[in-house]
Amino acid sequence: MKEITKICCIGAGYVGGPTMSVIAKKCPHIQVTVVDINADRIAQWNETDLDKLPIYEPGLKEIVAATRNKNLFFSTEVDKAIDEADVIFISVNTPTKTYGKGKGQAADLKFIELCARNIAKVATTDKIVVEKSTLPVRTAGAIKNILDNTGNGVNFEILSNPEFLAEGTAIQDLLHADRVLIGGDETPTGQKAKDLLSQVYENWLPKERILQTNVWSSELSKLVANAFLAQRVSSINSISALCEKTDANVEEVARAIGYDSRIGSKFLSSSVGFGGSCFQKDILNLVYISQSLGLQEVADYWEQVIIMNDYQKRRFADNIISTLYNTVSGKKIVFFGWAFKKDTNDTRESAAIYVADALLEERAELSIFDPQVKEQTIFRDLDYLNTRTPEENKNLVTVVDNPMDQVENAHAIAVLTEWDEFKTYDWQEIYDKMLKPAFIFDGRRLLDKAQMEEIGFNYYRIGQV
Ligand code: UDX
Ligand code: UDX
Repeated sequence: MKEITKICCIGAGYVGGPTMSVIAKKCPHIQVTVVDINADRIAQWNETDLDKLPIYEPGLKEIVAATRNKNLFFSTEVDKAIDEADVIFISVNTPTKTYGKGKGQAADLKFIELCARNIAKVATTDKIVVEKSTLPVRTAGAIKNILDNTGNGVNFEILSNPEFLAEGTAIQDLLHADRVLIGGDETPTGQKAKDLLSQVYENWLPKERILQTNVWSSELSKLVANAFLAQRVSSINSISALCEKTDANVEEVARAIGYDSRIGSKFLSSSVGFGGSCFQKDILNLVYISQSLGLQEVADYWEQVIIMNDYQKRRFADNIISTLYNTVSGKKIVFFGWAFKKDTNDTRESAAIYVADALLEERAELSIFDPQVKEQTIFRDLDYLNTRTPEENKNLVTVVDNPMDQVENAHAIAVLTEWDEFKTYDWQEIYDKMLKPAFIFDGRRLLDKAQMEEIGFNYYRIGQV
């Protein structure tokens, strides 16, 4: 193989979809086929109406419009795409195990194994197989083993090329990546594979931002990057609790420490807690690996990041309950936002789910609004917790299209996602419609405190009295 001309990506999700779209856009000479076993998802990716793509990411639909059916294809023909490709990205989900050994902590690798077995079965020419999914350290070894032992005698090189994009800014993160990490075997064929994949990214990124490592460093770096980022959020959130007991303001503290160039100013926004598909899962993974290797202190250290995050979500819900005179039963509370952050329709591990669950346990009546999240997703998230029956959730929760209609007679508003549009609402009108005293619990420090208090709201925000 002199250069890569055909790429296949298994998994048309939040990672595979945007990543392959950007590769197709920046490499017109490469044919990119994204496959998925979920036919509905593929149909959505092929929708003529670009507002119906399965994921919402600013800038994505424009790139799909420019490349789809030119050099970017979405298909359910998994085997055909695998056989034709020089490179196969594996970008399937790796959820936390819900059964057996490692339950609640370890990553479930069954989809990865299925992919490896399938590649082994159908590949008739040499392939580079790239792990895009975040995986426990040493998974590449398992994949290599399956491929080498069940294959048709062709050569497989396994690379780890973890994704660092953040949802909501995925396209910009891909176009202007801080770095691309490529891990592979330190053998001549391993080096060749790393160089071939580097060349793909060199179509739009400077060479010095493409880092090559051994495969284990690459796999571990992905977990560690997410663990460090999550740790910063938990660290500042722990301080937010302290600020609320003193006269300190968490934003001022964050600014003061962020000016120290050794600390840096990014990722210090206190919130109701981090969510998303990666942070918790990756830390649990790190904890599980550390424990399995007998490093209990290391495991305990990282687990504390999650304990602090759970505490933050619970603390926010408890504060709503205690402020509303220790009872929310039958009270209408309107949620502004359900997604785990703004500019995405992804709700996985969103703090909103857990805050809602705690309030529903107290029999609150919730009206939920999110500009991008569908009703069925919200009920799926709540039903998945199994705290109460789907019928009970239906009785207590209403999902609405227009928040303005819902604030009528509400006792409180809880801001769970930092959507920009919330700032532009007519808050005077909202106040007029609500029951008095009217409460706002701002889990994102989104609204203007002085303005809200002037209107007459009892306004609480994380990290500040
Ligand atoms: C996933 C992982 O969660 C993350 O750890 C990793 O870094 C990248 O892949 P994401 O793209 O957000 O992230 O997952 P998801 O949106 O669930 O997409 C995965 C897709 O893979 C789904 O569409 C699913 O149908 C598909 N899939 C899964 C297959 O095509 N084949 C399988 O065997 C399993
Ligand atoms: C993260 C990593 O940033 C990315 O590099 C990796 O590839 C996948 O995991 P993502 O989960 O999409 O990306 O979003 P991110 O912007 O990291 O936010 C994660 C969560 O932390 C969100 O719930 C966000 O609201 C929260 N957060 C982030 C804070 O509460 N405060 C902050 O200062 C930053």
